[in-house]
Amino acid sequence: MENKIKVAVMGATGAVGQVFMWMLSDHPWFELAYCTASAARVGQKYASTVHWVMPFEMPEAIKDIDVKEFNFDAMKEAGVKIVFSALPAAVAMEAEPQLRARGFYVFSNAAAMRYDQDVPILIPDTNVEQLDLIRTQGYPQTGFCVTNANCVTTGLAMALAPLRKFGIKTITINSYQSVSGAGYPGLSSFDITDNCIPFIKGEEEKIEKEVKKILSINPDVYAYTVRVPVMFGHLETVWLDFEQDVECDEIVKAWNEFKECQDLPSTPKQPIVYSPESTFPQPKYAFWGNPKGMVVYTGRLKKKNGKIGFCLLVNNIVKGAAGGSIQNAEAFVSRFLNR
Ligand SMILES: NC(=O)c1ccc[n+]([C@@H]2O[C@H](COP(=O)([O-])OP(=O)(O)OC[C@H]3O[C@@H](n4cnc5c(N)ncnc54)[C@H](OP(=O)(O)O)[C@@H]3O)[C@@H](O)[C@H]2O)c1
Repeated sequence: MENKIKVAVMGATGAVGQVFMWMLSDHPWFELAYCTASAARVGQKYASTVHWVMPFEMPEAIKDIDVKEFNFDAMKEAGVKIVFSALPAAVAMEAEPQLRARGFYVFSNAAAMRYDQDVPILIPDTNVEQLDLIRTQGYPQTGFCVTNANCVTTGLAMALAPLRKFGIKTITINSYQSVSGAGYPGLSSFDITDNCIPFIKGEEEKIEKEVKKILSINPDVYAYTVRVPVMFGHLETVWLDFEQDVECDEIVKAWNEFKECQDLPSTPKQPIVYSPESTFPQPKYAFWGNPKGMVVYTGRLKKKNGKIGFCLLVNNIVKGAAGGSIQNAEAFVSRFLNR
């Protein structure tokens, strides 16, 4: 694309921020023009201050970028239009409405604005039409905020989107969530090494609220969320009750035929990949696929007493966070700027 759109990353040194920096280092539509972290890092080169936790090398293109202060005027002067937020929710709660009011297009990972009625929780593969809510926020006269879902919900909503047509009555979900989901430095190694923690604050409530808002459905949801000693990728086991009798091969067919948003650079050709392999999927495949980490993997499909059960794997920091946000911005550009 000629004239790439200039973008900023807020919270660029955190777990999600690092994925933004990596994916934006060579993006066909977006140019990384500005990045921020907490005050102590301002003025330092990115590579010299970040504690890089990705399982691959830092791209050369981002190493010498200066970490800057959060300053609206400086961002405007740098030509920034789109702001990607990987801020903690409490910081986002203040910063994001201010960015929107100053005309920036904000794509956020934080929960701060997710439940506002006029703010979409967007997963373009499943509910791209909800992008139109930005007009209710005042776009094109003002800026806007678009959020992505909690990382567990993203994987769940992806796997359920093609199954909505069967009438989902109840969802029972258990998650096995990696430590990167708690950010960096996150949990104490003393707490998580050789251990599992069957409580993640607020997570079960988020899943229930968000899956309903994203998919516009109203099933009963029963969730347990567990932190496990794995670096990347959230595994989920799911049981579903449907309004009609559904066979496993119909579920596989629905997943295989799910191929929306192919025109966006960050959307895989096959967004949901199912395998009948008995030990599939596993968190060690979290960075598989093209683009890396954007595919949701499903497996262990079975039917018992009319219920359908399966496993899924979502990369929590890519599809479930920064990659999902970038895909949201691509969907906006494609739908509203006709690029
Ligand atoms: N991790 C996931 O899997 C995941 C998935 C979906 C959504 N999210 C959401 O995404 C957001 C970021 O998560 P994360 O896991 O990347 O967190 P994180 O690793 O703790 O990173 C937070 C980032 O925000 C910066 N920051 C902290 N306090 C700040 C302040 N007062 N002013 C400016 N910058 C500040 C940090 O800078 P310093 O490095 O300088 O402290 C860092 O760059 C959170 O809202 C989280 O809930 C996370």
